[in-house]
Amino acid sequence: MSEAIIRIDNVHKSYLMGKEAVPALRGVSIDVQPGEMVCLMGPSGSGKTTLLNIVGGLDDPSRGHVTIAGHDIVAMSEEKLARLRLERIGFVFQTFNLLNNFTALENVEAPMVLLRKLGRKERRERTLELLAAVGLADRVEHYPSELSGGQQQRVAIARALANDPDILIGDEMTGDLDSQTGFEIMSLVRGLNQREGKTVVYVTHDPRMADYADYTVHMLDGKIVAKEADPVQALTAG
Ligand SMILES: Nc1ncnc2c1ncn2[C@@H]1O[C@H](COP(=O)(O)OP(=O)(O)O)[C@@H](O)[C@H]1O
Ligand SMILES: [Mg+2]
Repeated sequence: MSEAIIRIDNVHKSYLMGKEAVPALRGVSIDVQPGEMVCLMGPSGSGKTTLLNIVGGLDDPSRGHVTIAGHDIVAMSEEKLARLRLERIGFVFQTFNLLNNFTALENVEAPMVLLRKLGRKERRERTLELLAAVGLADRVEHYPSELSGGQQQRVAIARALANDPDILIGDEMTGDLDSQTGFEIMSLVRGLNQREGKTVVYVTHDPRMADYADYTVHMLDGKIVAKEADPVQALTAG
């Protein structure tokens, strides 16, 4: 068996509310293998966003270990962690979080500008390729306000892919979209997982969106309560 790309080991997280510690995660452990697509489900407040933020290095656990591709990200310096996030992890959010004064092209280019690996011309080429890959070749000069929700989410996905990360993290990425558009976004993400081997961890409330995953992890009150393979996949496998 290969080395897990994401290793979450007995992670606890409490938020301080005044003087009281509110537990959000209470001993969560998951290993995700490279190329897996994992769905997290659970009621509101069960700790899904907290867990994604910790996996993505946006928040610290109160206790426990998180390893990304063999790197302990809890012990890591802020600077190294920022670099790891920029290079290896792409985030997609429910409300797209695009920069409204930037065109689609400028939004997708932004993470490459920050990483400073590519020159201007290569950056531009890669940006156009990414926008074409998500079906927006004819929308590159549009601003977010000139795009539909589904199109904005496609820009956000292209942006998440800008620095060719091995991990994609999605928090309710179809939550603001109608079902049909949601399915299209999930097919796009599943394609990136299957064709390019991206490891995907995503949260959804919608069981129909969970069907795109290899397996679903169910959370309740800050704990994992069940893990199940998608039954259709299990039947067709082998
Ligand atoms: N920044 C915060 N400050 C205080 N409590 C928080 C914060 N973020 C989340 N929580 C609490 O942690 C718990 C888990 O929240 P969250 O991870 O957002 O759950 P989910 O994404 O499953 O809805 C909830 O009880 C929530 O109120
Ligand atoms: Mg949430």
